[in-house]
Amino acid sequence: MAHCFCLPAVADFAQCDRGAQDMLWFRPEPFTTMPRYEYRPLTPTPEAEKTFQNWIEQLDREFMNRDPDHRSDVVRENLHELYLGAQSGPPRQDSSLAARALAHSFDPRNATLEPEYYGDIDAAKYRERKPLIWFWMMYDRSPLGLNHWLGFRMRAMLARHIFKHCGQNVKIFHGVEVSFGYNLTVEDNCTIHKYVLLDDRGELIIHQGSSISDYANVYTHSHDLNDGMIITNHKTEIGPRARITYHATVLSGVKIAEHGLVGSMGVASKDVEPFHVVAGVPAKTIKVKTIAPSS
Ligand SMILES: CC(C)(COP(=O)(O)OP(=O)(O)OC[C@H]1O[C@@H](n2cnc3c(N)ncnc32)[C@H](O)[C@@H]1OP(=O)(O)O)[C@@H](O)C(=O)NCCC(=O)NCCS
Repeated sequence: MAHCFCLPAVADFAQCDRGAQDMLWFRPEPFTTMPRYEYRPLTPTPEAEKTFQNWIEQLDREFMNRDPDHRSDVVRENLHELYLGAQSGPPRQDSSLAARALAHSFDPRNATLEPEYYGDIDAAKYRERKPLIWFWMMYDRSPLGLNHWLGFRMRAMLARHIFKHCGQNVKIFHGVEVSFGYNLTVEDNCTIHKYVLLDDRGELIIHQGSSISDYANVYTHSHDLNDGMIITNHKTEIGPRARITYHATVLSGVKIAEHGLVGSMGVASKDVEPFHVVAGVPAKTIKVKTIAPSS
């Protein structure tokens, strides 16, 4: 657990680590003797902090302009500087083909992303978001991508321009992928951990205080068994205060109710009742949280 960054899903638990959360959630007493670890406040140097904040504010201002070409120009320029430390220009004809391909690829208009192939895409909505989604992906893979202080703030800013709605105090780690972005709602105080897939091809709502752990997958579309090109989109909902733990999967159209928890590696193929802890493939209830109201 040395590297577990499991940020909590519940305001009251806002400063406790995974071990402490489990103990609080599953063992009724005595709460007071259980260890509780506060998150340590970390900041970069004042000079770096100012630079980081100014950069995010500058990008935020630029992205207020929803014109896809304007956004693409901004992204091309920033990726060029991020990766090569130099301002962009047309690729030099005397440079290698690989170097020219790199320069072309900083421009989102030359990048092709998987969701663009989907026939059910709303092309107009995606077009204005695509430059930012490309920037997000390339930012995460850049030398800055693992700087958490900067990354939380950068991704929160991008999410507010990309998602249908992104609430306050949303923390998103590196390597997270979305499908369209415009069908995704992430409410206040949610945490999305590293390498999570949030498929919002249908509609995905992550209600407040929920947490999606490392490498989890949440889907909102399914394929016909006989003809894989026949797609059905559903609304998938998680929370409030639910936890999809690491490497778990939530299938399309499933609702994980308040305080529901999907155990690691579990596949939630059916709705999960409030306060139920489910595990396995397919996931079944293994216990009910002791904080559940008595019926
Ligand atoms: C689901 C979970 C929370 C249950 O923890 P727990 O309350 O300590 O569960 P227990 O050890 O009492 O297990 C109860 C039963 O469920 C089974 N079980 C527990 N977790 C399971 C899982 N992920 N998949 C399949 N079965 C599981 C146990 O083997 C046990 O079965 P048994 O009664 O036949 O022996 C835990 O196993 C889990 O998956 N935690 C996720 C870790 C996490 O949050 N990671 C994020 C950190 S950043």
